[in-house]
Amino acid sequence: ADDIPQITIDATKPGPTIDRDIYGQFAEHLGRGIYEGIWVGKDSEIENINGFRTDVIEALRDINVPLVRWPGGCFADEYRWRDGIGPRDERPVRVNTHWGGVEEDNAFGTHEFFELVELLGADAYVNGNLGTGNPREMAEWLEYMTGTSTSAVVEERRKNGRDEPWEVAYFGIGNEAWGCGGHMRPAYYADLYNHFATFLKTPRGSEPKFVASGGHTTDTSWTDTLSKNIQRQMAGISFHFYTLPTGEWDDKGESIGFAEEEWFATLWQTLRMDEFIRLNKKVLDKNDPEKKLGFYVDEWGTWYNPEEGREPGFLYQQNTLRDAVVAALNFNVFHQHADRVRMTNIAQMVNVLQAMILTEEDEMVLTPTYYVYDLYQVFQDATSLPVEVTNPASYRMGEKTLPGISVSAARGKDGQLYLSLVNLNPQRAQQVSVDVQGGEYRSAQGRVLTAEAMDARNTFDREPEVEPAQYRAEGEPGELKLELPPKSVIVVALGA
Ligand code: AHR
Repeated sequence: ADDIPQITIDATKPGPTIDRDIYGQFAEHLGRGIYEGIWVGKDSEIENINGFRTDVIEALRDINVPLVRWPGGCFADEYRWRDGIGPRDERPVRVNTHWGGVEEDNAFGTHEFFELVELLGADAYVNGNLGTGNPREMAEWLEYMTGTSTSAVVEERRKNGRDEPWEVAYFGIGNEAWGCGGHMRPAYYADLYNHFATFLKTPRGSEPKFVASGGHTTDTSWTDTLSKNIQRQMAGISFHFYTLPTGEWDDKGESIGFAEEEWFATLWQTLRMDEFIRLNKKVLDKNDPEKKLGFYVDEWGTWYNPEEGREPGFLYQQNTLRDAVVAALNFNVFHQHADRVRMTNIAQMVNVLQAMILTEEDEMVLTPTYYVYDLYQVFQDATSLPVEVTNPASYRMGEKTLPGISVSAARGKDGQLYLSLVNLNPQRAQQVSVDVQGGEYRSAQGRVLTAEAMDARNTFDREPEVEPAQYRAEGEPGELKLELPPKSVIVVALGA
């Protein structure tokens, strides 16, 4: 029994705060993410609160969504914000060129977005259009949202029904400038960022955190160039990384019915996040030693081949226990880098990619990923604690080795000591022993998420296969042992 992994938490050395915005969501005008998934309109037969699906809003409230990014993604760099204000029946129709070429009737616009975040009790992350917009348009949008004067723009907002300004917590200046946002080079984008940001003004005290659109995967040139050359206000640099089981965009892998090799490959791919963050942090630590800049992973999650018979441009996919493990592994990585990773947004909230919720007409299912967000709520604004794992179990496949377990610990806002544990191995249960420096703990109580099959999921036609269950373990201080079922995610509070 001595060779089981030994987890030592040092409760005497509090680390950085795990910003609640790490648990942010992303809602793009894409497929059935907003239309159908969130917004059905007041006249819909689906139960709604002023046009927003009641079931979806209530489920999202339960996981305490701190932040929502909108309106894209690629969509943001073609979005004309003026299309989405004023009487709905007068709003123009456009074509959503990125996502399925469908018609966008602009029923969901700025006012609807802020109503959504208000319903959720979340903060707003608005992504501006740098790709096809101009500085005046962007500046006026920010003025429309935050202004308190009697300027024509602010009066227009009042005429449209909103007297008080809204709070914009984050404002993104473009998206994926290296790709759908305009295929730019970092230096060119840095100049454009400075140009646009010059004109972005808000009343004193209501300035959002401005986000520069950064790099992806191993490319740190964006982080380097932006952190050196952006002179205008910038709170952080964004970063995107999607987990594709095969690592190949033209055949990403399936969302269900996969073999253990593909389970392993997915977890291996997703853990590259740690390497990417480390590489970018190195660059930031050189260019920004005072740690003023955040590193915002504002798009991440699994991306599989589109489901048969569905519009490929809608990016609808199934969500299984594997996605739950992916989410938990990423959280544990983000916690470890909480000094720089102060905000992230999983892609995406409803019906798109690694979603929390899937809907079909008036029905809704909560995905395994949803439950990971639920379990991890206790880490929002918690204080991270150093964790050491000796003798970590390893999980091998062919030439590659993964850690068998992943662990993170923090002191919650309620003062409790929380521990998250992931068993990556789908075949083997793993016993671990837990010890805390600076405290005596005899129990671990919380919830576990696991299931029989690697692709266990919750669907519309049968009983849910993945739902959290109660978990409890006991033992004398220094002898507390936890049994992690195969392919499981556990979050527990330690008790005296
Ligand atoms: O989340 C889907 C798309 O992925 C986003 O629109 C884009 O930014 C990224 O390429």
